[in-house]
Amino acid sequence: MIYLDSAATTFRKPSSVRAAVLHAMQTMSSPGRGGYPSAQSAETLLFRTRSLAAELFGVQQPENVVFTFNATHGLNIAIKSLVPPRGRVVISGYEHNAVTRPLHALGAETVVAASPLFDTDGCVSAFRKALRRGADAVVCTMVSNVFGFVLPIGEVAALCRNVGVPLIVDASQAAGVLPVDMTALGASFVAMPGHKGLYGPQGTGLLLCGTDTAPILEGGTGSASLEQAMPAFLPDRLEAGTHNMPGIAGLEAGLRFVREKTPQRIARHERALIRRTSSGLQRFDACTVYTAEDDGAQAGVLSFAVRGREPEEVAAALAHRGVAVRAGYHCAPLAHRSAGTLEHGTIRMSVSAFETAAEIDGFLHAMRGILSK
Ligand code: ALA
Repeated sequence: MIYLDSAATTFRKPSSVRAAVLHAMQTMSSPGRGGYPSAQSAETLLFRTRSLAAELFGVQQPENVVFTFNATHGLNIAIKSLVPPRGRVVISGYEHNAVTRPLHALGAETVVAASPLFDTDGCVSAFRKALRRGADAVVCTMVSNVFGFVLPIGEVAALCRNVGVPLIVDASQAAGVLPVDMTALGASFVAMPGHKGLYGPQGTGLLLCGTDTAPILEGGTGSASLEQAMPAFLPDRLEAGTHNMPGIAGLEAGLRFVREKTPQRIARHERALIRRTSSGLQRFDACTVYTAEDDGAQAGVLSFAVRGREPEEVAAALAHRGVAVRAGYHCAPLAHRSAGTLEHGTIRMSVSAFETAAEIDGFLHAMRGILSK
């Protein structure tokens, strides 16, 4: 299979990730629940992983790195910590349902700082304008999961700091590929999955916390057991129940892989594959390719459409030829509205550190076959 769906999850993982998952299952029990060796090695792993994530993402205290099930879980905690019922929230035009659905559930007044695809300056202006009336929070993704558009998060963060509005960053498609520095951004929260650009297993995620938090789950923490309220301190406040130790062990190995390879080298590799894909697809008359003129404005995700064919039909034909892509709306109808692709959606291909130029050529060959029919 030619796997081109890493924006959903990186399916190919470093062998060290698989080994770490197995090792945790063989050696670790419940962290914070016992003084015996298997409980202690689980506790040590949690601290080591928090410390590594804190170092990679500019968090001053490892305790402020919270383990979540995925980015959606982290975004829900962040949004529900900051946004009062019917509060006013400014979001980019490229947010995922993981942002818009919790806001909808809160009955929030959601103001979209709408801007055209790959228009970096337009995006900053839209946020500046939307923030004139203030807000309870801003939520901004770093990279569109549909188009790979790299949003100007540094400028958006500066605008938020200037007007004193807390910022929630969705780093789902950025972590492991672009620099993410919580302290430099001055963000209140940064949410990220463990299973995409950090190469951990599914069911893992991180929430970097820079402000007071409201738990969305209550339960045992192994601490302050006589109290019925959740502990006031992090990470316990947000980590109810037994941790996903095999998942977190895999995530630690994934973080080490990213640190060793460096996000800069991974990004360079992914951008080269995206350029190859984009110039290949542009040779087909029937294809509309959504690609940035400036390389820096697009990460390892690319959407395209085929005239006269539904995205799902093209994706099914690709699957039949052994190529995995995602088609439709990618859980982000707002991004399609912003880009003008809401009527049909798009076909999306996305890459990781493991895909190769030969696989891109295989995908283009499969597309040629499909278009010739
Ligand atoms: N949000 C993930 C995607 O874009 C699952 O496919």
